[in-house]
Amino acid sequence: MDTLSVKVIKKATEALGIRSLELASSDGRPLPAFSAGAHIDLHLGNGLVRQYSLCNDPSDRHRYLIAVLREESSRGGSSYVHDSIRVGDILTISTPRNHFPLVRATHSLLFAGGIGITPVLCMAERLLTAGASFEMHYCTRSVERTAFYDYIRNSPLSQYVHFHFDTGNQEQKLDVPAELTKHNSGSHLYVCGPSGFIEHVCSTAKAKGWPEEQIHYEHFAAAPQDISNDQEFEVQIASSGERFIIPVGQSITSVLTNHGIDIPVACEQGVCGTCVTRVLDGIPMHRDVYLTDSEHASNDQLTPCCSRSKTKMLVLDL
Ligand code: FES
Repeated sequence: MDTLSVKVIKKATEALGIRSLELASSDGRPLPAFSAGAHIDLHLGNGLVRQYSLCNDPSDRHRYLIAVLREESSRGGSSYVHDSIRVGDILTISTPRNHFPLVRATHSLLFAGGIGITPVLCMAERLLTAGASFEMHYCTRSVERTAFYDYIRNSPLSQYVHFHFDTGNQEQKLDVPAELTKHNSGSHLYVCGPSGFIEHVCSTAKAKGWPEEQIHYEHFAAAPQDISNDQEFEVQIASSGERFIIPVGQSITSVLTNHGIDIPVACEQGVCGTCVTRVLDGIPMHRDVYLTDSEHASNDQLTPCCSRSKTKMLVLDL
């Protein structure tokens, strides 16, 4: 994957527990172009790689803007960004990639929950610049936890954005079924936020008859998994016939890496898709949020950073 060096030119507090970084190329040249919904991998220098959505208008060629929520349960990614990265630091990032692109639509309906604002804000900027029809619903716990609140209110975006606060009065709360009833053929829906939020909006849309291909969502963390019934299983490497036992508590990628078989990984949580590997035999126990439901059902690929096996053996196309 292509990487580049960028310089931190600004670090700001966007809301309670949310800090943003503004990144520019370290040699002053324009940055590689990106499309709305794209993300970068940020190499944190301590061996961790994390994905962050780009929040700014894709027509900006001189900067990438990311925003990071401090998560107490994180394995070091968000606290490293909050506490260790300083203005002037040179960071390594990947070139932007997009698994959550906008598609041409008569109307785009954007839903953001909490830090899920990051790709959604970029989409809103793009749709505004393009003069496209859209509206955005932005749900947070309170004004203090609402990243980019002042920015949105003071920009032309404000007339398209509806804020919904958990702590606010009943009239301003988001009525998902009502909003999804107002739009249908030709509209596309985009959702990003906590798993429960995505699940609620998407399942309501499906119940209201929205076609699956008009519903788009992006997770930024896999939901917690019940691992209490995990069993050990075997993995066979198709090209060599070698077999490895994957014990409870270890991932396929970690066991294979220990034996000199490297599968590229980034998030190690089933979010980014970097590690996707073809399955030639056996049935995976999918634990990612990257593959679609139909890809899961076809059982011919898996994310070995987090997924396991329902069968005693998985044969991988390696
Ligand atoms: S490394 Fe991101 S899905 Fe496996």
